[in-house]
Amino acid sequence: MNLSLHDPTTFGAGVPYDEFRRLRDTDPVSRHTHPTLGSYYAIARHADVLAVSRDSHTWSNQPHPIPDIGTTDPVASGDGSNGGLSELLISKDPPEHTKLRKLINRGFTPRRVADLTERIEARVNAIIDSLRDQRSCDLVTDLALWLPLHVIADLVGVPEDDRAHVFELTELTFGFDATVTAEQRGEAAMAMYAYADGMVRDRLGEPRDDLMSVLAHAEVEGEKLTDFQLAMFFMLLQNAGSETTRNLITTGTLALLQHPDQLQRIRDDVSILPVAIEELLRYVTPVMTFMRRATVDTEVGGVPIKLGERVMMLYASANRDERAFTEPDSIDVTRTPNEHVAFGAGGPHFCLGASLARLEAKIMFETILTRFEGLAIDGDLATFPRVHSNLIDGYANAPITWTSIV
Ligand code: HEM
Repeated sequence: MNLSLHDPTTFGAGVPYDEFRRLRDTDPVSRHTHPTLGSYYAIARHADVLAVSRDSHTWSNQPHPIPDIGTTDPVASGDGSNGGLSELLISKDPPEHTKLRKLINRGFTPRRVADLTERIEARVNAIIDSLRDQRSCDLVTDLALWLPLHVIADLVGVPEDDRAHVFELTELTFGFDATVTAEQRGEAAMAMYAYADGMVRDRLGEPRDDLMSVLAHAEVEGEKLTDFQLAMFFMLLQNAGSETTRNLITTGTLALLQHPDQLQRIRDDVSILPVAIEELLRYVTPVMTFMRRATVDTEVGGVPIKLGERVMMLYASANRDERAFTEPDSIDVTRTPNEHVAFGAGGPHFCLGASLARLEAKIMFETILTRFEGLAIDGDLATFPRVHSNLIDGYANAPITWTSIV
């Protein structure tokens, strides 16, 4: 199988779902070669992805679980062995991960997420109000992009005046614009770290009602997060919370516009929206892959994997596995049960922001469906540029039109 899963250009025309089906049927744990990191195995079936994700004893997240550091680690050393990414929560193994996550959970409570509801509603309406005099826009850059950026800023406590600066650094550091050089990314990452560090010092001295203050003062069994861990968590949130949710909103909206019968089912009974969002998460799978590394000689689906070898969990393939879902290539906005793996396949790293992403998506989809009339895709979807990534699936631009905004 010649599919180059670590190469972002493989996903340039969209997720290769036909190839994934072939892998699931004929080579579910397939061997591939990365030019610098050596060989790795791609895991295509739902059951195998679940097994790996839930066994953190056999499978490590170190040095980090991101599929290709060349394009995604702005502070990488370049040889795949190290870089800033290895210091993130998502790169840690138990027991260190367990301790860190417990501390972070002190601030990331369901209550703190629920308290954001009114601000999210106001923000979504403000974004749509700003388009009132228009009849067209770019779904990504004018609409979907802004909500997740502001929500993370609201949650963490970035003052309004600093947001343009922080958003620009976020885009440069973690965005998938192929024209941004490694040097520019590195500089932006350093500037973001410096900003985060300043914020931490500020909150240590003078706590406010924001997540950074709660985390700066949180204590579990006599231990606190270090200034470094706090700044790195700020960086992780900027990345994990923005690109992902943006692409759920964009690709989810486009998928509904392409399936008017399913869109109508939601319009007819908007109370099904939470179930529909789970189906959109399955169908569009914003995070396509993550890696793990074997801590012992082991096997997956009968294929032997040696100590130290890497595996790539193909969430996008698992979510279309006929063995786990009936008619997986169709959207059914009332699908239940729906054991999708869009937020990860269980285990200690399951997405920390899942409930926040669900809340943002619910408010955004509900508002889009009620306020826009005559919403339509403007052009041929197949020609819209996609993000340049082997990790995140989505569009870089997506023109839409409408007849009125109420
Ligand atoms: C549609 C939106 C989102 C998707 C599809 C998504 C997907 C994921 C996935 C696949 C993982 C890895 C799970 C694993 O390895 O088991 C993850 C981890 C994580 N996500 Fe999300 N995510 C989304 C939104 C968010 C948001 C809004 C935030 C923050 C506010 C967030 C914060 C995190 C963090 C901190 C982790 C690492 C957790 C850990 O290592 O313990 N995510 N996410």
